[in-house]
Amino acid sequence: MGIRNIRKDEDPILRKKSRVVDKFDERLFTLLDDMADTMYLADGVGLAAVQVGVLRRVVVIDVGDGIMELINPEIIETEGAQCEEEGCLSLPGKNNYTYRPMKVTVRAQNREGNWCLYKGEGLKARAFCHELDHLDGVLFIDRLATEEQIKEFAAEEETE
Ligand code: NI
Repeated sequence: MGIRNIRKDEDPILRKKSRVVDKFDERLFTLLDDMADTMYLADGVGLAAVQVGVLRRVVVIDVGDGIMELINPEIIETEGAQCEEEGCLSLPGKNNYTYRPMKVTVRAQNREGNWCLYKGEGLKARAFCHELDHLDGVLFIDRLATEEQIKEFAAEEETE
């Protein structure tokens, strides 16, 4: 178990842009393992390397169906929209509604360096967007839904 310290709130590193990973070595594997341990201990569904103080384009996500390790990830397709409550291990107590796509396709390298496609809907799509934003210094509080969007989605749910 390698538990790392999660950077929080006004820590300036959270606003920095992460760099591309070009070495798929032991150091990266340890980072990935530690990030997973840290995420599970904190009861999160996703974690970006910057949140443990490492400015590399590395993300781990587990929305309940197993760990995904995304290295140098990029969103290649989105569809639809959703408006749900979101939170972040780096911003405790600040949960709020965001406006995100409903379906997201991500292209990323795995720890062997091979490119893979990942598709997510609902919570997984939100996790992709949220964690990939971290790599560019963007936080979910920058993506908050407007009152109109929240009302619009609440009305849709009532009619379902
Ligand atoms: Ni976060």
